[in-house]
Amino acid sequence: MPDADGIKEAKLFYTDRPQQTEGFFLKGSGSLDWGIKNRLARIFSPASGRTVMLAIDHGYFQGPTTGLERVDINILPLVPYADTLMLTRGILRTVVPPSTSRSIVLRVSGGASILKELSNEDIAVDIEESIRLNVCAMAVQVFIGGEYEKQSIINMTRMVDIGNRYGIPTLAVTAVGKDMARDAQYFRLACRICAELGAHYIKTYYVEKDFETVTASCPVPIVMAGGKKIPEKEALTMAYNAVQQGASGVDMGRNIFQSDAPVAMIKAVRAVVHDNETPARAFDLYNTLKREK
Ligand code: R5P
Repeated sequence: MPDADGIKEAKLFYTDRPQQTEGFFLKGSGSLDWGIKNRLARIFSPASGRTVMLAIDHGYFQGPTTGLERVDINILPLVPYADTLMLTRGILRTVVPPSTSRSIVLRVSGGASILKELSNEDIAVDIEESIRLNVCAMAVQVFIGGEYEKQSIINMTRMVDIGNRYGIPTLAVTAVGKDMARDAQYFRLACRICAELGAHYIKTYYVEKDFETVTASCPVPIVMAGGKKIPEKEALTMAYNAVQQGASGVDMGRNIFQSDAPVAMIKAVRAVVHDNETPARAFDLYNTLKREK
């Protein structure tokens, strides 16, 4: 119990200095609640406004993917260089040390495998799990134009509603069917639908032509999906172009963990995303670090 008799008179009111009201650095996120903003600020760096997410959730529909056979051996050394890990609760609980300071984006949709129709997903993780696991966002796949389009959209809107209740943002992941056109027109449609229906940020693919129209017409941050493995310099160029054309970072998996030198590659990706390093200089960095290894 504090001793009220000895209390000093309070004097430091700074009546000449109005209280500062800080804006929020992320596109379209100014009106969100404190908890959601705080979680987003653990995914996106307040200094650069961008993020390097490391996607290792592939096992939820395709089992032990090349490079992810042993997450404990191959992926844990990359963790210090990622801003965020995107993964399933299974890998999080079994392999990732709870002492990690990296933010977690939890895959919460699922229910389909590569042996069946991929768009036939449901919500596969209770909100209590996301709270218990202290995650910074929940990722839901959205299949615009897919066979189970409506079901996947409703999965996302449900998570937005539930997540808003507890201050946890929802990441909409735009999934493109094999036979669908991967062009700016499609991604404008998919991203805008996800944003209009409440997604806090969106993961989508880069397209060579008019990607800036995808980011411009989407009122929330976009992170670029990595996609299948391509040569390191091309992947760095793609990441560079995406952030220069309005993406707020990347969510890359195979182009990092399937690289010949994954630690060198994630460091080079960071240079492109957070320091605006050119693809040529980032590729030099990659080669230097690869040699040193
Ligand atoms: C599917 O769309 C999942 O989110 C993937 O498992 C993953 O995030 C894809 O990462 P990447 O295409 O960069 O390997």
